[in-house]
Amino acid sequence: MGGWIYGPQSTFEAEGPVAKTQLDVFYVTVWVTGIIFVLVAAVLAYATIKYRVRPGHDTDAPPPEQSHGNPLIELGLIALSVVALVVIAVPTLRAIWFTYDVPEEERANAYEITATGYQWWFKFEYPSEQIDGAGTLVSGNELVIPAGRPVRVNLRTIDVIHSFWVPKLAGKVDMMPNRGNHLWLKADEPGYFWGQCAEYCGESHAVMRFRVIALAENEFAAWVANQKSAARTVPGTQIGDTPPVKAQVEFASYNYQKVRRNSPGWTEEFDRAPFAAWKKQQEVEKSENAELIAQGRKLFIEKKCAGCHVVRGHEGAGVTGPDLTRVGARTTIAGGLLENSQQNLHRWLTEPNEVKPGNKMWYGGYMVRNDKGTWDAQFTVNDSEARALVAYLHSLK
Ligand code: CUA
Repeated sequence: MGGWIYGPQSTFEAEGPVAKTQLDVFYVTVWVTGIIFVLVAAVLAYATIKYRVRPGHDTDAPPPEQSHGNPLIELGLIALSVVALVVIAVPTLRAIWFTYDVPEEERANAYEITATGYQWWFKFEYPSEQIDGAGTLVSGNELVIPAGRPVRVNLRTIDVIHSFWVPKLAGKVDMMPNRGNHLWLKADEPGYFWGQCAEYCGESHAVMRFRVIALAENEFAAWVANQKSAARTVPGTQIGDTPPVKAQVEFASYNYQKVRRNSPGWTEEFDRAPFAAWKKQQEVEKSENAELIAQGRKLFIEKKCAGCHVVRGHEGAGVTGPDLTRVGARTTIAGGLLENSQQNLHRWLTEPNEVKPGNKMWYGGYMVRNDKGTWDAQFTVNDSEARALVAYLHSLK
């Protein structure tokens, strides 16, 4: 749909019952206040024009005798105000009760998710999906849900106050420290929806985003089953049994461009059809370079990535950053900011602070605080190392 009022984060394109209810309240309020505005403006215009100063009027004359007005008009205005408030209050209260929690009759069918805000990304846990020996299924920045089914989202935060908002589905409710908030949402149809943190939470708040992908029931079940399995291993890339890696491998199939700061983080193709892009992202890339991937897997440990991230079944135990077990299958990286292309991932790995200022991969990872309170480089990721890491991370589907 075109027009300035529409877009990926437009609340005018409600695609679920919660967002529709919220949009209805908005329309009721706009109509009631709009009518009041027109009436008041009309009366004001009438009085201004009718009683304006005309040639020949005595401008020094004292004002006419003041009265308390016409009791009938006064009472009528009070009654009208009460009516206007009731007209707004009834649907508002109904909407508050409806959006607060999954309706009783649908509760047995509700799917549960726990969303946790971090500076600046979202963690999604699936309490009903348990993995033997690895606990709850965890994902980051892309919340995959079953379409046509109510989803109850527990809202948590690890640090400051964030706010969970999916404009086309539901919103927004704060994620408060030491407080268990929740909301519910439902996507009527399968689709791809933009989400956004809606509470100022530090320097990269504006780019703290996420996506919601709603899948048909059978596709969702397949997605969950794949997510629960350990990380995909490309043959010949196991740590320990790989042949010695050459210092520099060929990058024939990797055609990067240099990307500057503030250049757009997504392509037109992704902009137009993100749901199709998401489905394509689930597929394994045709030209996988096992040698490069093996090198990347080693670098994942050497560059201390494993200290903050997990690739379940491979390396890492860190929980500070997103779970990367299937990062190659996500359409976005860096907290929903960039499309997950080779080029963008390379950019994110070599210059994280250029992409998302203040992020913990940079401060505390790449840079460490010294005795003087300033920051020293702990390590860097050069061009060829980043290419190897990109190949490895993109093999994780
Ligand atoms: Cu998190 Cu704003």
